[in-house]
Amino acid sequence: MKKITIAIDGHSSTGKSTLAKQLAKYLGYVYVDTGAMYRAVTYFSMQNNIISNTYFDIEKLKNELKNINLQFVFNSDLGFAEIYLNDVNVENEIRKIEVSNLVSKIAEISEVRTKLVEQQKAFGKDKGVVMDGRDIGTVVFTDAELKLFMTASAEIRAQRRFEELTSKGDSVSYEEVLKNVVERDEIDSNRKDSPLIKAVDAIEIDNSHLNREEQFEKVIKLVNEIV
Ligand code: C5P
Repeated sequence: MKKITIAIDGHSSTGKSTLAKQLAKYLGYVYVDTGAMYRAVTYFSMQNNIISNTYFDIEKLKNELKNINLQFVFNSDLGFAEIYLNDVNVENEIRKIEVSNLVSKIAEISEVRTKLVEQQKAFGKDKGVVMDGRDIGTVVFTDAELKLFMTASAEIRAQRRFEELTSKGDSVSYEEVLKNVVERDEIDSNRKDSPLIKAVDAIEIDNSHLNREEQFEKVIKLVNEIV
C-alpha cells in the first residue's frame, strides 16, 4: 500500500483532530495537530507578557520566536503525540479557553506561520502523515493526495466543544464557547496570510448530522480509492 499525505482543514471544533487520530491509528500514520503548535506559541506569549486581552507586543513576539522550541512526543498510553514547549508538556494548558481566545491573533502573524509551516513540512516529508489545521491543503501540502474540508453549524460545534471542556472540569459557559468559535472562524477566514479557505481540490464534509463512525467510514472509502 502506498503512503499518502492526508490534509484536513476546516472550521474550529469540527472534530478534525478526532478524525485525524482515528485515521492515523488505522493507517499506522503519524498525526500532526498543527493547531496545537499555534496554541503553544500563544501559551508561550501569555507566559512572557507578549499578549493578553488588552495587550499585544508583536515585535517582542517576533524577537522571541527563536526561543520557542516545539516538539511532539508520542504517548503510547494515549495513542497519540503530545506537544512539548521548550521541553515541557503543555497539552492541557493549551486547550483552555484563555488560549483559544487569543490564538487566532497569534496565528495572523506571518513570522509565526513561516516558522511553524517549515516545521510542519519537515514532519510530513516522508508521507504517511495526517495533518489537521486551517492551511494544510492550501499552503503546507498543496500536493496532498487527499484533502478534506470539514464544517458543521456553529451551534453544533460549540455544543461539542462545550461538552469537551466541561468534562475536563473547565468552568466555561456555552455562550462563551460559541462566541469563541464564531470569532476564531471570522479571524481565521479573513486574515491576509494563509486564510482558512477550502482548497479547490478538497472534499467537503459537513458532519453536523454524522456521528464519528459514519464520518470515519466515509473517509476510509475515500482513502481506499487512493492507496
Ligand atoms: O485546530 P485548533 O482549533 O486547535 O487551532 C487553533 C487556532 O490555531 C485556529 O483557530 C487558528 O487561528 C490557528 N491555526 C492556524 N493554522 C493552522 C492550525 C491552526 O492558523 N494550520
